[in-house]
Amino acid sequence: MILETREIGKSFGSVLALRGVSMRVEPGSVTCVLGDNGAGKSTLIKILSGVHRHDSGEYLLDGVPTVLDSPRQALDLGIATVFQDLAMIPLMSVWRNFFLGSEPRRSLGRFDVAAARRIAREELRAMGIDIRDVDQPVGTLSGGERQSVAIARAVYLGAKILILDEPTSALGVKQAGVVLRYIVRARQRGLGVVFITHNPHHAYPVGDRFLLLNRGVSLGEYAKEEIALQELTTLMAGGAELEQLEHELRSQ
Ligand SMILES: Nc1ncnc2c1ncn2[C@@H]1O[C@H](COP(=O)(O)OP(=O)(O)OP(=O)(O)O)[C@@H](O)[C@H]1O
Ligand SMILES: [Mg+2]
Repeated sequence: MILETREIGKSFGSVLALRGVSMRVEPGSVTCVLGDNGAGKSTLIKILSGVHRHDSGEYLLDGVPTVLDSPRQALDLGIATVFQDLAMIPLMSVWRNFFLGSEPRRSLGRFDVAAARRIAREELRAMGIDIRDVDQPVGTLSGGERQSVAIARAVYLGAKILILDEPTSALGVKQAGVVLRYIVRARQRGLGVVFITHNPHHAYPVGDRFLLLNRGVSLGEYAKEEIALQELTTLMAGGAELEQLEHELRSQ
């Protein structure tokens, strides 16, 4: 599925959260959304995932203008979102969390525990996720492992588009690397991935396209060949603003 926005916008009362933003997500590729706090990243992905409705521009799925009514509808269409808080239950086992809300049923509607355990283990392994024991509580996993379980779950549930809101921001270097690997896996499995991050060093190695947002406005969407890491970093940091800050701090 190809997901596209054209000049999309959204306001909350008098706050213009997003204005004229165009982006594109293709199967087997990663589109990174970069921007500082308040840039409009979450607003954009909430439109993509059916939480908010846009009030200007167009949202197209496979070229067809679409208005999503709910996150459930987005999910049914194959647009899965892993939110930052992950919506997992820490005291529940890994396999239970894996199936939360979509448990495999035996005939007569009974929940098939053995199958659930087996499928969870196999699916995690297929994504290269090595979890010793799927019976352990999700709360005992590291942040990176938890993100990985959420990604594997979305892939298993048949997502065509996978949206990740800052999956690496709370993680150390090594853990972030783990999550970046799964983003690449999801892309190799043909999913279109939307990866939201503050960090150009996380985005650049895995991204195919880069959308830069600043105060609700797009600073441009670039294919990887059109932009170097250095330029991305400068644009992200707001170049001039950072120089000004450096100057200020030095003179104190
Ligand atoms: N539900 C809402 N009601 C009113 N204003 C909102 C709402 N959601 C977002 N905004 C405003 O829209 C702007 C963009 O917010 P958004 O959460 O999209 O930014 P962000 O790029 O995700 O930032 P962060 O990196 O801090 O998560 C902000 O000024 C924010 O205050
Ligand atoms: Mg946000």
